[in-house]
Amino acid sequence: GRVHNYTWEVSYQYKYLDCYKKLAIAINGITPGPAIYAVQGDTIIVNVVNNLVMENVAIHWHGIRQIGTQWSDGTDGVTQCATMPGDTFTYKFVVDRPGTYMYHSHYGMQRESGLYGIIRVFLPKGQPEPFPFPYHYDRHIILSDWYHRNPYERAANLSSIPFQWVGEPQSLLINGRGKYNCSLLGSTADSEVCNLKNPACFPAVLTVIPGKIYRYRIASLTSLSSFSFQIEGHSMTVVEADGTYVEPFVTQNLYIYSGETYSVLVKATQDPTRNYWATVNVVSRRPATPDGLAIFNYYPNHFHKFPPTKPPPGPLWNDAESRINQSLTIKALKGRVESPPKTTDRVIVLLNTQNTIDGYYRWSLNNVSHSLPATPYLIALKKSISDVFDQTPAPESYSPDYDIFSVAKNTNATSSTSIHRLVFNSTVDIILQNANTMTKNNSETHPWHLHGHDFWVLGYGSGKFNNETDVGKYNLDNPIMKNTVPLHSYGWTALRFRADNPGIWLFHCHIESHFFMGMMVLFESGSEMVSEPPQANMGCGATKRFIDNTTPA
Ligand code: C2O
Ligand code: CU
Repeated sequence: GRVHNYTWEVSYQYKYLDCYKKLAIAINGITPGPAIYAVQGDTIIVNVVNNLVMENVAIHWHGIRQIGTQWSDGTDGVTQCATMPGDTFTYKFVVDRPGTYMYHSHYGMQRESGLYGIIRVFLPKGQPEPFPFPYHYDRHIILSDWYHRNPYERAANLSSIPFQWVGEPQSLLINGRGKYNCSLLGSTADSEVCNLKNPACFPAVLTVIPGKIYRYRIASLTSLSSFSFQIEGHSMTVVEADGTYVEPFVTQNLYIYSGETYSVLVKATQDPTRNYWATVNVVSRRPATPDGLAIFNYYPNHFHKFPPTKPPPGPLWNDAESRINQSLTIKALKGRVESPPKTTDRVIVLLNTQNTIDGYYRWSLNNVSHSLPATPYLIALKKSISDVFDQTPAPESYSPDYDIFSVAKNTNATSSTSIHRLVFNSTVDIILQNANTMTKNNSETHPWHLHGHDFWVLGYGSGKFNNETDVGKYNLDNPIMKNTVPLHSYGWTALRFRADNPGIWLFHCHIESHFFMGMMVLFESGSEMVSEPPQANMGCGATKRFIDNTTPA
């Protein structure tokens, strides 16, 4: 394959993404960052130059398995020491499968500040996609949410007593564009800070030629929100999810959770004399953010011409049933997705709860809230430094009499750096079990993401997972393979994966603040097979001693 070599300067820049002037983290001046276009088998080299002045950085390539290149997974505290201001870190990896992936910051609460983008991997020339009908154009849509508070403030608020929640986002963005209601700022707002007439804040435009068929690769990089996406008057045929082919299905609106990608086919065959709305609205949490809007523009209508109709309202935020139905609808495309092993070697159950530890608000799995050690795990493992993380195995079940419907107390919750060690090449099932939060009658949706692997989604259910009756209902016939999957409120989600990628990998809730508050576990397997760590990944915690200081910089 080809080698793509990029140099990315990461820096803060003033942007008007939703009309409000705010510092965003840009790559070579833009946010979302540059899209990566590659063909299956190509090598990607990215030299990340940290020009953030006062902040470290690390970039994760979400959905890329990093086979043989764990050093490039880009996870602060796991695979590398974050890159300091003024330094450059080089990521190098192969995009071994076609499909739609993404990249984003994996340091602190930085992702939400705009440090993200899409990765589009094409099939080699001459190989057709196994879609129900061909398409003429291939486009992408990046969905995100946007806060006006900076990442330091949000991170400090979450980790202080009293706890201060980040709250709902100020705006929803489509391809980096949204619209804040400047009048909310009151009379203090000057037009330089917030101005709806600023051309920089005009909605995103998706232009189509009448009669043509478009493939849209849709990626959700939200920090909090779950979305419903739709294009007024147009149905979508879903054909890809997280880089694997799905049995095509037609829908009016696509539910998409943080960390997921989908490809949909859209026919531009409606009345071509007008424009339409493309919208996103928040689902699964009571929305406090106006819907995000883009213009679905039929050429040659002017792309700034607003559609003559009101934007479609989208589904009700609390219509859980229709979200679960979509989750259940997504199946693997026959013959194009590997089947799961029929049995498993191990079952790990993870109870998702919210709790306090010493007065701090945290999220826990089986009553353990995770914290990242100062020494990245991978280097600790390779260099046999055992005293930098907790060596007792992380718990893999919870008390059978725990009531998932009552307000969580979990007074015995603890914080730990412990990990799950898996036998290399073994088959592992994960049962994600949801529960009530610390608020009455509330259970949140959590999109769970696994690094370094795809998993089969064997089933979803409501209430408490029942070992006697639910295992028999697993879909072992045509389960989809994904890297991110929702855990619905008061429900369970069952996954199966093969621990066949040597190293240590994160499995976490993709809601940035939940991850920040400890909602993660780590899976280690075959890390002895990973090659010697490059010095570039070291420099922090106990890894300082391995840095060769004999040669002046
Ligand atoms: Cu897209 Cu570890 O995350
Ligand atoms: Cu979560």
